[in-house]
Amino acid sequence: MTAIHPPAQRVWWKQPIHRDEILWISIAFTWCMIMFFMMPYWHVYGSQNLSNETYRVKPEMYMRAAQEMVDKYTVRTETDEKIPVVAPPAGADVYLVARLWSWWPILELEKGKTYRLHLTAMDYQHGFSLQPENINVQVLPGYQHVLTITPNRSGTYAIVCNEFCGIGHHKMVSKLYVK
Ligand code: CUA
Repeated sequence: MTAIHPPAQRVWWKQPIHRDEILWISIAFTWCMIMFFMMPYWHVYGSQNLSNETYRVKPEMYMRAAQEMVDKYTVRTETDEKIPVVAPPAGADVYLVARLWSWWPILELEKGKTYRLHLTAMDYQHGFSLQPENINVQVLPGYQHVLTITPNRSGTYAIVCNEFCGIGHHKMVSKLYVK
């Protein structure tokens, strides 16, 4: 019997299953199960997951905390818009604000030190993308993500908004310094 010609017996599905077919079904099923259980396994044991916590937050309260940090730890300003560059001490709560169409302020962290990085949006949904590390977090108004981070390489990282947020989306870029 081939696939091109009609089967010799019209009611072919009542024939006993062939051993080869059983074998292939078993292989396919086993592989399905392996892939299925890899999902929870990788979620728990893979090293790609962020250590993030999520909380509800009022934008005004978040902004107050961010402003407090900026007032305390600003070391200089950058660009024509005088964006503060903030160098908070190790272990500090660090606040980053996403809004149409900027990230505020610019953070300057120290290599090997641990920080609690807070992320929220003031208006609409934005996306925090740290390049070239390829760390991505959805940034939503009303919620804050708190990531416990320890930068392990010094340099200048780019922060890109990776969630389309309107006409100025492509300009919503910033940087993060690690000394
Ligand atoms: Cu913010 Cu795109």
